[in-house]
This record gives sequence, structure tokens and C-alpha cells, in this order.
Amino acid sequence: MRHAVWLALAGVLLLAGCANGGDDDPVRPVPGGDPARGKQLIASYGCGACHMIPGVSGADGLVGPPLEKFARRAYIAGEVPNNADFLVRWIEVPQAIEPGTAMPNLGVTEGQARNIAAYLYTLR
Ligand code: HEC
Repeated sequence: MRHAVWLALAGVLLLAGCANGGDDDPVRPVPGGDPARGKQLIASYGCGACHMIPGVSGADGLVGPPLEKFARRAYIAGEVPNNADFLVRWIEVPQAIEPGTAMPNLGVTEGQARNIAAYLYTLR
């Protein structure tokens, strides 16, 4: 009897976990994105002046939110769902997604943004 109760409870918890925005499966591929190049681009664009970014030396800025475990986030800037298309777009032109955001358009090209997104999605 006790076992049945625990099993039922475990089932409910499992279901709750699945309803939790896919947090259990944070692997997010970016077609055409190269994470190693992305890491270099993050350094050369100076994203770390505003963001704390694990694995990028000197990236300890506090102007924007820390990007640790970024693949586990549900939303980008609290505005749009966190997926590859929106992330690439955000990195290219954040102002297009959230006009007036404190993150500036930095002139990142789409190809570069793909590489950067691929790196950010290694942060799980
Ligand atoms: C001048 C400071 C600044 C620079 C430089 C900057 N950002 Fe941001 N970034 C911000 C701010 C501020 C936010 C929060 C925006 C909001 O929520 O409206 C943000 C938000 C983000 C987010 C969403 C974070 C979240 O928690 O949802 C990502 C991803 C991001 N930036 C990536 C980058 C990348 C990649 C670069 C370099 C190409 C970069 N940022 C350069 C200030 C900056």
C-alpha cells in the first residue's frame, strides 16, 4: 500500500517535471553554429563587459544578466521563448525584439550570431 502511494506521487512529480518548459532537456542545437568560433566572437565583441559568461576570460560584467546555464532559460530577456531562431535574432538586433532595451545593437552578422548562440547553448 505504501509503495503504491509513493509510486503515484513519483508519477505526479515526473509529470510536473515535464510540464516545466522542457527544463530537463536543455540541449538546443543551432544549425550552422560553431561554438568554438562563437566563444572567440564573444571575446572580440566584448559581450563580457556587460555579461558574466562562463568559459570566457574577463567576461564578468554586471550591466546585463549573467548568461550562465543559458540553455536552461525559458525566455530571452523575458520577452520571447528561448530558442535558436530568437537567440540569433536577439544577438544580431536586440532592439528589434525589445525596443529600448539597454543591450545595444553591436553589428553582429547572422553567421556570427549563430556561432555565438551555439556557444551560449553549451552553457547548461
Ligand atoms: C552595453 C552592455 C551590453 C553588451 C555589450 C551586451 N549586452 Fe547582452 N544584454 C545587456 C542587457 C542590459 C540585457 C538585458 C536586456 C533586457 O532584459 O531587456 C542583455 C541581455 C542579453 C541576453 C538575454 C539574457 C537573458 O537573461 O534573457 C543575451 C543572450 C545577451 N544579452 C547576449 C549578449 C551577447 C552575445 C553580447 C555580445 C555580442 C551582448 N549580449 C552584449 C547588455 C549588453
